[in-house]
Amino acid sequence: AEADSQAVLPCKYKPNSIYSPAVIWSKVNNGTIWKKKKSGLQFWGSDWSVKGNQRARCPHYEFSRGDYSLQIKNVREGDGGLFSCTVQTGDQVIIILVMLRIIKVSSSPSFPILDNSFSISCNVTPWPYGASVQWIVNNSSFMQQMEITSDGETINNVVRERATPRLAGNWTCVVGYEGKVGRASATLTMKGITKPFEDNTKVYAPVGSEVTLPCVFSSGLVPSSPAWEKLKPSPILLPASFSPSQPVMDKSITLKEVQLEDEGMYRCSGTVSGQRLTRNMELVVAKIDSSFPSKERGYVSLTCKLTNTSEVTEYEWVRVVYDHNGNQSVESIQKGKFITINKMSVENQGEWACRFYGKYGILGNVTYHIQIMSKLSPCMSAVTNHSLCCSNNSETILTILHISSPQRNQILQYPALETIVHTISNEREQRERNREKK
Ligand SMILES: *[C@@H]1O[C@H](CO)[C@@H](O)[C@H](O)[C@H]1NC(C)=O
Repeated sequence: AEADSQAVLPCKYKPNSIYSPAVIWSKVNNGTIWKKKKSGLQFWGSDWSVKGNQRARCPHYEFSRGDYSLQIKNVREGDGGLFSCTVQTGDQVIIILVMLRIIKVSSSPSFPILDNSFSISCNVTPWPYGASVQWIVNNSSFMQQMEITSDGETINNVVRERATPRLAGNWTCVVGYEGKVGRASATLTMKGITKPFEDNTKVYAPVGSEVTLPCVFSSGLVPSSPAWEKLKPSPILLPASFSPSQPVMDKSITLKEVQLEDEGMYRCSGTVSGQRLTRNMELVVAKIDSSFPSKERGYVSLTCKLTNTSEVTEYEWVRVVYDHNGNQSVESIQKGKFITINKMSVENQGEWACRFYGKYGILGNVTYHIQIMSKLSPCMSAVTNHSLCCSNNSETILTILHISSPQRNQILQYPALETIVHTISNEREQRERNREKK
């Protein structure tokens, strides 16, 4: 019987007598459980009837059929052992012996910590020497290593593994012994950092955007001394401030305006029951590089760039269109890392996005704006007729801008004509300029 379930200990005997027999159920070497005299009077052993609540019972409506089977509720390991059922009529005494074995699946620790080792065992009390044990994990059979004890017995009732999400779930142990099969199950819940689930997960963010680096512990865990580090080029502790409104197990941090140099490996950590748990993740920054081919005036060439492209399988350029209700729709223009756009064409004005995809779908996007500023609008109205005039003008402006602010970030080279979607504040530029001067 599985621990905590109900066990039925069979005892069936129909004597050749019209008189009701006397029946005694006892645990061998451990006293009487239940006794019925010929008169019908019943007695309960004190261990089996706590405050009038009987764990063991013998339903009397079965007596007429000669069935004196004993039912035990919520069996525990201590109930395992040999039982006897004695049926007595006149001078005839029948004794039926029943061995009750309790099967229990338990893990250590009871909530394994992800990435740490744990063991799960199938205990049978008393242990049936020579029994076979098989494990079924989430409905498929699980091959485990045999262990040989000093006396040559192989035990495969204990599995030792490293806790991975794959091993979480339902564990069933199937015990075979002398042609009978018993089973018991337990649900294994793993604890640890559940988001991101795996080390070296990549988080994608376009330059200038706000990004959250996730670090969420399983519910019920209260990690102490949470910390964030940036691992490369050399590990530095980040001044992580966790908002009091964040749930205690959520140790995610937010970077307000991602810069190219923010890319790299990060590590979050926290201590849970004396163990330091860590999760490494990589911030991949995406940006769009623009260049102006000298041969084709009025055109801009865009390149979609990521600081790590190892997961990227495909790039797609889309034009983003908003209707008058502000609803976004996209039109796929072409595949690939590069695109050349005629920025003088009115229909090309507005938002462009490079979407990048991995094996399992979209990873992220980075946007780029093509606009003609109001200064140029007289020209703009003439775009179709006098495109040459227009492009000449714009080239002149571009050159001046370039000379006047040579320190600017490459992305911001030509702010009059193109602006990246997440405009970087003056304050940030100032900071950058100061940094560069240093
Ligand atoms: C780009 O990504 C953001 C954030 O995931 C999303 O809201 C937006 O719709 C995406 N834009 C395009 C054009 O895919």
